[in-house]
Amino acid sequence: MVKIAVFASGNGSNFEKLVQAKDKNYSIELLIVDQEDAFALDRAKNLGIRSKFINPKNFTSKSEYEKNIFSILKEYSIEYIVLAGYMRIISSELLRNFEKKIINIHPSYLPEFPGRDSIGDVFRSKNSQTGITIHYVDEGIDTGEIIYQERIDINPLWNKEELTNKIHEREHIVYPEVLKSLFDRSINI
Ligand code: GAR
Repeated sequence: MVKIAVFASGNGSNFEKLVQAKDKNYSIELLIVDQEDAFALDRAKNLGIRSKFINPKNFTSKSEYEKNIFSILKEYSIEYIVLAGYMRIISSELLRNFEKKIINIHPSYLPEFPGRDSIGDVFRSKNSQTGITIHYVDEGIDTGEIIYQERIDINPLWNKEELTNKIHEREHIVYPEVLKSLFDRSINI
């Protein structure tokens, strides 16, 4: 069973779905958040998952912040980092220690609409399609190797909230499924 730490910054709905999927191929050992008021912390408490708020402001540099995270990950023998709405760029400290072992979900069909407010950008574009992407994290912004992506048709009558809900609905189904097959050691040897 692959030991995972999930990183989040806010709501944590994807984190919750990953936990609830209760897959035999992976186990979520830990939630790490960078925001004290992240609702993901409440979810972790209710789900019985260990969680830690690590305040980036308590460190002199990003590298020191990530070194601290790395020491915690080692303590819990974490093998993979799964980002679920973690709104911070991962830098070399974690990237070199978790090479091709950091996974992200992004709410657009990359390389279309990278960045922080993809859903808003897609909504304002008036495009007829968007999508979701699960990818490995590299040093770029939303540029790493794509593991899975799918298209979502946009109903022109949707408001931004309805578009957001549709994207989340698909993310909640797809993220656990993709991790499940990625970590299925009987097929990925
Ligand atoms: C998700 O839609 C995820 O794709 C997005 O943040 C949301 C988090 O929702 N991630 C990014 O935009 C990363 N660039 P959640 O906290 O309810 O899981």
